[in-house]
Amino acid sequence: FIFLSLLSLSTSDGDDEFRNYQISRKRFPPEFKFGVATCAYQVEGAWNEDGKGENIWDTMTHTRPEMIIDRSNGDVASDSYHKYKHDVAIMKKVGVHFYRFSIAWSRILPDGTLANINQKGIDYYMNLLQELHRNGIEPMVTIYHWDLPTALQNQGGWMNNNIVGWFTDYARLCFQLFGPLVKHWATINEPKQICHAGYGIGIGAPGITSGGLGEYLCAKYVLLAHASAYHVYDKEFRPSQQGKITIVLDSDWYEPGTPADEAAAEVRRQFVYGMYANPIIYGNWPQVMIDRVAIRSQLEHFNRSRLPDFSPYQQRLLKGTFDYLSINHYTTYMVSAIPEPPVGHASWDLDAGVRLWQKPEWETAAIDWFKVVPWGFHKLLRWMRTTYGDHEIYVTENGVSDRTGELDDFDRISYYRRYMSHMLDCINEGIRIIGYTAWSIIDNYEWNMGYVAHSGMYYINMTDPARRRIPRKSSYYYNHIIKTRCLLS
Ligand code: NOJ
Repeated sequence: FIFLSLLSLSTSDGDDEFRNYQISRKRFPPEFKFGVATCAYQVEGAWNEDGKGENIWDTMTHTRPEMIIDRSNGDVASDSYHKYKHDVAIMKKVGVHFYRFSIAWSRILPDGTLANINQKGIDYYMNLLQELHRNGIEPMVTIYHWDLPTALQNQGGWMNNNIVGWFTDYARLCFQLFGPLVKHWATINEPKQICHAGYGIGIGAPGITSGGLGEYLCAKYVLLAHASAYHVYDKEFRPSQQGKITIVLDSDWYEPGTPADEAAAEVRRQFVYGMYANPIIYGNWPQVMIDRVAIRSQLEHFNRSRLPDFSPYQQRLLKGTFDYLSINHYTTYMVSAIPEPPVGHASWDLDAGVRLWQKPEWETAAIDWFKVVPWGFHKLLRWMRTTYGDHEIYVTENGVSDRTGELDDFDRISYYRRYMSHMLDCINEGIRIIGYTAWSIIDNYEWNMGYVAHSGMYYINMTDPARRRIPRKSSYYYNHIIKTRCLLS
């Protein structure tokens, strides 16, 4: 671990508040849990094996390969469908306490509905769960991580209110089948990306560009689907299975460029994290969002807000549907308020009057938008407590991608160490963070970045038919942290 000591020479961060920030030598609390995450479409492959139905990422990558930077797809990916035992073995080596993975809806329900249940798909997850159990690794299961069955998309997908029922049926089946082995559930991963990328700007599957309207409609049904699944678990399964359930939300940190930009930065935070957190915590969209969309809809000559509302019944259904909060976090943006675009100018409610930028002096990870700003994580975690109160928080994703794929991934080690160091300080400030999840254990399919981005603690050569898992230095580093519960040796 010579490299550990070299890395302990901290680099300093740009922000004033943390200028004299010291890397903490304090320990993680004994009950704190460390895990790693993946997602079905990104690792499983076997896209059409054993009765699996097609999903929207299969469809989009096959019919519109130009949407992906290297025109690749997840047909084989990391081949975890066949190599899940290897995955569990390397997780055991790294020493993680839990594994966060997702279930592929169309592997279990090829057409998305209960009309057709695929036993072989069920067997795969049962085998994976049993393998984890044998190795003493707890599962944390995401029910939906972006891979909607294409048959449901053909009916409108997340823009059709029937999705609430389709998702509830699917979630109930998951609880029935796998619940006895699962204590931590997440209904849906990163709804912001599902709705903004998938139905708003159209860069993610299903690739629909219907602007704010599509995004808000999707958001409404995602939230109601989540709440419905939460109540099913709470009433029908929790009494016997005793598990916990939440929704996984993501947010970058938005830092005001000057004190005068704080209002604009807060609007941005509310349109990203708040848009989903506020409904599940308080039962409705954030007020600032309701007001802003109403005003902008009027400016654009609509006399009703384009933000769909929640009925009083739906608000009651949504409120309190989480057992802990979660956060996926990667990077930070500066926010500057700029003059709002002229009336009638087609623009996003969240983008209008705002300029996002990143400081050139911030370290860039190899993926272009990915600036390494550890203090932004600190501020985000503090903001979560100030805004939503004192809840337990799981960090459900954090990590960094690079383009080189090198095994001596000191930049990744540095990223993990600095982000975790700030997280540890938050814990010492009394913020109740109870677990940390590194993204990811193995290289995998990074959506629009295809295989250009590497994010694993284990390298996989995606042209190697055997898809061997080769350890990077970061896997030893993480193992060291988990064993010692300290960031430094
Ligand atoms: C968020 C997503 O949940 C995951 O699928 C993705 O690969 C990582 N962030 C990295 O971008």
